[in-house]
Amino acid sequence: MTRSPVGTLLGMRPHAVDSEALRRTVGGRLVVITGASRGIGRAVALRCAAAGAHVLLLARDAAALASVAGEVRSAGGEATVHAVDLRDLEAATAAGERIVAEHGAPALLVSNAGHSIHRDLVSYADRLHDVTRLAGVNLLGPVALALPILVAMRRARQGQLISVGTVGMALPGPGWSVYTATKAGFDAWLRSVSPELAADGVAVTSIHLPLTRTAMSAPTYARTRLPALSADDAATWVCRAALTRARVISPWWGRLGAVATAAFPSTADRLAEAIWRRS
Ligand SMILES: NC(=O)c1ccc[n+]([C@@H]2O[C@H](COP(=O)([O-])OP(=O)(O)OC[C@H]3O[C@@H](n4cnc5c(N)ncnc54)[C@H](OP(=O)(O)O)[C@@H]3O)[C@@H](O)[C@H]2O)c1
Repeated sequence: MTRSPVGTLLGMRPHAVDSEALRRTVGGRLVVITGASRGIGRAVALRCAAAGAHVLLLARDAAALASVAGEVRSAGGEATVHAVDLRDLEAATAAGERIVAEHGAPALLVSNAGHSIHRDLVSYADRLHDVTRLAGVNLLGPVALALPILVAMRRARQGQLISVGTVGMALPGPGWSVYTATKAGFDAWLRSVSPELAADGVAVTSIHLPLTRTAMSAPTYARTRLPALSADDAATWVCRAALTRARVISPWWGRLGAVATAAFPSTADRLAEAIWRRS
């Protein structure tokens, strides 16, 4: 779909990544990727490993991680796996500390693990555990893991954190309230710490990713014909972020929509309400 004229018009056709430049950036260095057991994280892991990085793969499913590590090794790459549930904040902190103790400051932390639930307010009114679950994986766990790693990067005066966020952070839609709130919370944290880190040579990139066809989006969008990236396209966005070290990577309509909704909040709310009523 991203090869279609509509995908191109929406800025969803990924620019090719110069593989030699990627090799110069991550080759022989440690790249930590959360949510690497499938989907976008797996695709990022394969791309970075093919460019010569030692990839450290994190997620909960140890068997799936081992399978991705097997793919990396059978292509001649180097991979280490670490099974951790990011909702367990002590385990997430310990994972970050262990990475630093065993490997030093990584070149790149790709904060990609995430979970989404599409549910209206009434449907989760008696399911507060869904709110804490999403806050754990999308906000608190990523902060807990990143803290020791970012401190080590600052000390080493090098490194980059790439956060795989959603375009919905700037354009929150009804039905996605908890997902966008928790993803936007992590993004706001990054906006705040980014200047502190930049002063010590550590870059922060927030990717505002549009719809991507993975297991996460399948329950809501599998049968729609909406323009969407593939997991491999999304991995290209991440690789581009590693090369450009841009602060934000977002489709043009995401940026325009963010400006328009900030300038005309009542109109934006009325539009969102109309869409919600028709859905
Ligand atoms: N797909 C889209 O349309 C889309 C759009 C915008 C942004 N994104 C973002 O892209 C990122 C990757 O999503 P995806 O589409 O590749 O989804 P996915 O295929 O469902 O992959 C999610 C990854 O996160 C890991 N994960 C989930 N809960 C975890 C936990 N508690 N602790 C540690 N790891 C956990 C999963 O592994 P385990 O289950 O093994 O733990 C899996 O590796 C997410 O942050 C998502 O918000 C996706």
